[in-house]
Amino acid sequence: MQFYAKSQDALALKSDVLVVGLFEGGSLSETAAAADKACQGELSKIIEREKFKANAGASLLLHHNLGQSATRLLLLGLGKQSSGKISAESFSSALQALANSIKSYRSATFALNGITVEEQSPQWQAQQLAQTLQTSLWRFDQLKSQKQPRPALSKVTLCTDKASLSTIKKGLSEGQALAEGINYARELGNLPGNICTPTYLARQAKSLSRNRPELSVKVLSEKQMKEMGMGAFLSVSAGSDEPGQMIVMEYKGAAKSTAPYALVGKGITFDTGGISLKPGAGMDEMKFDMCGAASVFGTMKTLLQLKPKINVVAVVAAAENMPSGGATKPGDIVTTMSGQTVEILNTDAEGRLVLCDALSYVQKYKPKTIVDIATLTGACVIALGSHAHGLYSNDQALADSLLAAGVRSGDRAWQMPLWDEYQKQLDSNFADIANIGGREAGSVTAACFLSRFTKEAKWAHLDIAGTAWKSGSAKGATGRPVAMLVNYLLNPA
Ligand code: BES
Ligand code: MN
Ligand code: ZN
Repeated sequence: MQFYAKSQDALALKSDVLVVGLFEGGSLSETAAAADKACQGELSKIIEREKFKANAGASLLLHHNLGQSATRLLLLGLGKQSSGKISAESFSSALQALANSIKSYRSATFALNGITVEEQSPQWQAQQLAQTLQTSLWRFDQLKSQKQPRPALSKVTLCTDKASLSTIKKGLSEGQALAEGINYARELGNLPGNICTPTYLARQAKSLSRNRPELSVKVLSEKQMKEMGMGAFLSVSAGSDEPGQMIVMEYKGAAKSTAPYALVGKGITFDTGGISLKPGAGMDEMKFDMCGAASVFGTMKTLLQLKPKINVVAVVAAAENMPSGGATKPGDIVTTMSGQTVEILNTDAEGRLVLCDALSYVQKYKPKTIVDIATLTGACVIALGSHAHGLYSNDQALADSLLAAGVRSGDRAWQMPLWDEYQKQLDSNFADIANIGGREAGSVTAACFLSRFTKEAKWAHLDIAGTAWKSGSAKGATGRPVAMLVNYLLNPA
């Protein structure tokens, strides 16, 4: 899809549909008022007659010519204004409705004049518009033999005043770059376990770096991981015929000497639970157990387009968790790269096992901060449902900036406790630490486990078990938290 910003009168532009915003309570946005004037009040009469309330997300398509150059007019509800502004939530629901109503038309025109969002800039609005349209039009049908026709929308023009033209353009290209990263994360997430293996993910990293000198990739094989003492990681891939891969991507946008930001993604390409086998119902959804990794790939893809002047090191711990004669057994004790020993009481608590060695490894880069992203616990889904990521951190400034990035991007997290009191649930009679902490506070004790491996760093953990994919008829990866991570990396303070 192509996005254009123009400092022109939206009414005078030819397209298949002109979108005009209306506020709840009857007031018209600038463009709507101009349209109404051009048709001598005909538009107001239609709004009245159709009882269009303009709540956020409502829309009404008029196949009329009311003086605009576009073939059709879409009335878009923007919700209530308070002191002249609408809320970010209203703006987002309006954009979602907009995407659904215009996707079957080839071209659309929209004007932001006079539409302001609480605490947000026109650049942010343009970014959200591009991001919402491009993620809404995305389809995952590469594995269907009969493809549905693509949505027709290919050209969107945003009209604005001359003064905001350059920031609007910047917002549009940020939104497109974000959408590409989000859609890439969704694609990787949706791919089934028989295609998206650890080796497949390693190949993805290599193809991301092709012709891109700012990205370098190395992949640690099981043999190399063994030499480095990554006994926890290897205990997970031990039961699988697919070799585990530790994928390292280094993005360099700043001087070599600048400390990088580190991202670590859980990349379990399929989680059967191992010998602690999961029940059969819904097990297909455990192909999504690499969505943390997918969000890291998506974030890298967006960074490669936006080229911020920072360094980022991304580590994806990719393995398949399977039961077999060679698989790890409950009670087995392994030695991690950090030297700490772990009693594996449940082989289904495998995410923390691959992550702990990845976290030890990434600290060699002396990163400014480390953020890991993982579909780590069912308990997090019970605690927070599907709206907020669970956030844990040993550094409140880092937690605050991730929370703020979540608010800015509409991809929000909620902070959970990482108190010492929970740590003793991980005591083991036979090793330094057990890999499970009992029934209570399962998401917290999983975070506590990871914290044992990040004592020296500013570290945060995002449990995305509830947010990374949807179940039911809308089953599919969401691409979260790419938007939050990119937002954080662009404004880490
Ligand atoms: N990948 C799962 C977590 C998960 C489960 C995410 C359901 C989303 C939906 C993880 O590897 C796991 O199996 N965790 C166990 C931990 C338990 C054994 C302590 C869980 O949550 O049941
Ligand atoms: Mn598991
Ligand atoms: Zn898992």
